[in-house]
Amino acid sequence: MRNTLDLSEPGFLRNRRESYRLLRRTNPVAVTELNGEKTVVLTRYQDVDAVLRNRRAMMQPAVGEFPPYIGSGPASVFYRLSLPSVDAPDHTRLRRIVSPAFTPQAVSRLEQWVAQIIERRIAEVDDQGVIDVVEQLSDTIPIDVACGLFHIPRQDVPALVNRVNDIIAVLSQADMSAAELARADDATRVFFDYFRNLLRDIRGSLPEHDFVATLSSAEAQGQLSPEEVDTVLVDTFLGSYHTTMVSCTNAIHALAAHPAQRAALIADPTLAARAWEELLRFDSPVHFRHRYLSEPMMINDCLIEPRVKIMLGLASANWDETVFENPDSFDLSRPTNRHLAFGGGGHFCLGSQLSRLEGKLFLPRFLARFPDFRLADPLPPRSHNLTFPYIESLRIELLRRH
Ligand code: HEM
Repeated sequence: MRNTLDLSEPGFLRNRRESYRLLRRTNPVAVTELNGEKTVVLTRYQDVDAVLRNRRAMMQPAVGEFPPYIGSGPASVFYRLSLPSVDAPDHTRLRRIVSPAFTPQAVSRLEQWVAQIIERRIAEVDDQGVIDVVEQLSDTIPIDVACGLFHIPRQDVPALVNRVNDIIAVLSQADMSAAELARADDATRVFFDYFRNLLRDIRGSLPEHDFVATLSSAEAQGQLSPEEVDTVLVDTFLGSYHTTMVSCTNAIHALAAHPAQRAALIADPTLAARAWEELLRFDSPVHFRHRYLSEPMMINDCLIEPRVKIMLGLASANWDETVFENPDSFDLSRPTNRHLAFGGGGHFCLGSQLSRLEGKLFLPRFLARFPDFRLADPLPPRSHNLTFPYIESLRIELLRRH
């Protein structure tokens, strides 16, 4: 292990492609400290993939041990019970209960409904000259989907969405200040109270085979505690909203910068599923996930000991030039695309099929209406969060053909 790395350095965060490239070349097993904890950062595809596939790779350093930075308030309850932080056997029990709602078959039953949401939201902006993609499409589409899945009345959404960045900070693993932890605690309290009250109000009237009904009956049968139900609801709400919102924006941004790929997709809308996968590789919404090993592992001639935190550079792996030719171009003709944007192993994204459905429905419908759209601001403002960076606002001219 060589050189100490500072993951909070603004230059590092602003120029991710270059920062990760340098790490892949010169320091692929980099050492740093996050929230006072020694952390190894992996950036090469093979290394990230090997840890994701390693059955000894855990979310906790030792059974029931959690990082001190999460404190002892509501955010720590959320962190400790969250699917992305728990290990077997609890993880296996939780996944077994929630997975049936997100299988390919279950998700395919949502296709017509999701298509209608997308069409309605696109129609709403149809007569406008300039729109902010984030506010008017990327945000509204996954929110409508989440409202349907979780039975959230639309008027309740702002109170939740305004707190999303505060609560996901605790999952991001980046250095967290006391003020950020206080905000995460507040946000978690708001989310937990909201879902508990919602569940109380709708419990008796839920349709059969419904996701929330499944959680509610698992609670009634003692398979899930009330806190676990609340946490799963928050996990899936955040997972379904934030990543999809970021990906829809990234997709429009990528298509603006790659006119030949845009033309190819317009000419052949059946490329939409492939385009979504390439988008997830090209501009991954989740840059890092963490793991701990329960047994030592050799990586690039370095021995990684158990209980050392490992940050897996998912986005960097997706830009690894030894695996993807010209990784910095958005290219629909890639012969293979085994990107790691959804993570891997037992924690592989629960909502990958839902995301794929949304992506393949969104891209051709957007381009059919606005094939000539162009960026109104060449340099859209970005949030440089270590794990969840995103474009904050993306203004485009629609240039609708008449
Ligand atoms: C573009 C869209 C999405 C991306 C890029 C994405 C990415 C990810 C990643 C990287 C992980 C961590 C995997 C790991 O640690 O190996 C994850 C987990 C998860 N995702 Fe997604 N996600 C997306 C959409 C969704 C959607 C639509 C849902 C809705 C249900 C969702 C729910 C979850 C949940 C619950 C987990 C935790 C799974 C576990 O730890 O067992 N995600 N996602």
